Amino acid sequence: MNSANILVIEDNEDLSFTISKVLHKEGFKLFTAKAGEEGLLLFRKEIVDLLLLDLKLPKMNGLEVLSRVKEMDPDLAVIMMTASTDVKPAIEAMKRGATDYLMKPFELDELKLVVKKALEMHQLKIEVARLRRDHVKANPHDTLYGESPRIKEIRKLIQIVSETPRTSVLIQGESGTGKELVSNAIHTASSRAGKPYIKINCSAIPDNLLESELFGHEKGAFTDAKLMKKGLFELANGGTIFLDEISSMKLGLQPKILRVLETQTFRRIGGIGDIKIDIRVIAASNTDLGELVKLKEFRDDLYYRLKVMEIDLPPLRDRKEDIMLLAKLFLQEFNKEFNKRVQKFHAKTEELLVAYHWPGNVRELKNVIERAVILTQDDSLHPDHLPIELKEEGRSPMPERADMGRMSLEDMEKMHIDQVLQSVKGNKSQAAKILNISRSTLREKLKAYHIS
Ligand SMILES: Nc1ncnc2c1ncn2[C@@H]1O[C@H](COP(=O)(O)OP(=O)(O)OP(=O)(O)O)[C@@H](O)[C@H]1O
Ligand SMILES: [Mg+2]
Repeated sequence: MNSANILVIEDNEDLSFTISKVLHKEGFKLFTAKAGEEGLLLFRKEIVDLLLLDLKLPKMNGLEVLSRVKEMDPDLAVIMMTASTDVKPAIEAMKRGATDYLMKPFELDELKLVVKKALEMHQLKIEVARLRRDHVKANPHDTLYGESPRIKEIRKLIQIVSETPRTSVLIQGESGTGKELVSNAIHTASSRAGKPYIKINCSAIPDNLLESELFGHEKGAFTDAKLMKKGLFELANGGTIFLDEISSMKLGLQPKILRVLETQTFRRIGGIGDIKIDIRVIAASNTDLGELVKLKEFRDDLYYRLKVMEIDLPPLRDRKEDIMLLAKLFLQEFNKEFNKRVQKFHAKTEELLVAYHWPGNVRELKNVIERAVILTQDDSLHPDHLPIELKEEGRSPMPERADMGRMSLEDMEKMHIDQVLQSVKGNKSQAAKILNISRSTLREKLKAYHIS
């Protein structure tokens, strides 16, 4: 742990020099500042594990510096250095979150001891967070189930990226394929698990508000900015931020996101200083970002930066072997939720589930099973319990173009009438309107083709 970074804010240069020398010999990396403002600037730029802070500083005093750094990093280990007459402020400092204090003048051995103790305690906190994370990991709702080769591969990828906590990740896939689930899984499996996990849907927030949501603003930055507001990047510090539907982010904002990814710093709107953060960004999109780049609707530099670690979730229809596995899993889940004991799928039900093209992917499958479990009266799921779309697809699959080329005009007409009727749930007036024929003509055709 002696590789830790220590920042010393002390206006007495002799003392600051001695402290630095002693701790440097112990293997620590040191930064020094003579005043509060200078110290805060350094703190924002560098990654600091421990702060040694003098209580009496010119201009901004130690207590104020303490409050400012705790605002940015509540878990930071801070040791206050106070003259022995300053008991009251020392107590105040502990109340504001200082880890320990040193009474001046102190022995250098005492300094080393207190520093090591504070860092050990910090280490312990991290360890507790890790244990908590291992506990969270067991949450079944963050598990990507499936035995298809692509899903197995993605589970491995999740494991790998969770071990590199700064790598940004781009998750792509159709709606309902599990993008958010993958993001959750990466966060909870990583060393950031005990830290904040903030999700924001870029398409749900108006363009002009998104920037201040993400970056925050200083007091007076614009007319409505009556108070300073922290942005989500700042609030997510130490943890993970999930930018859902990043494809809808306007071009103007994209370079600012790129900058966060590249430098791990950002600036509040109207702010003058850069703020250092330590976060992982996970972005998701259900439209192909590469295509948007070609259309110049998404910046290529941001795309390539995000793409470093890309996870593409396949649609459910491309991994049919997972359908029944997931269906059985959801069946058990809803059995529990609705206190039912449904045991099996009727053979025809299974056939329809596997044949369907699942435009809403796993979410749609989950909803279908939920509905069926609610509807069923006995111990199995019948085809009747499935929504109409699934049954329609099972009954009259749309022939491929190649097959259509070999169909007679009569067969084509029959198939078309059949499909139109199904699309309007058997309403003959509506079907006649769509087909642009009279009701009586339709009636004749139905009779001729034996369509009921
Ligand atoms: N492989 C899987 N195993 C278990 N549950 C899954 C799996 N994939 C998706 N789910 C479940 O399906 C639902 C939809 O997943 P999720 O919200 O992650 O999809 P999404 O890709 O973010 O969709 P959208 O683009 O619409 O936001 C969730 O309830 C999720 O838990
Ligand atoms: Mg989602």
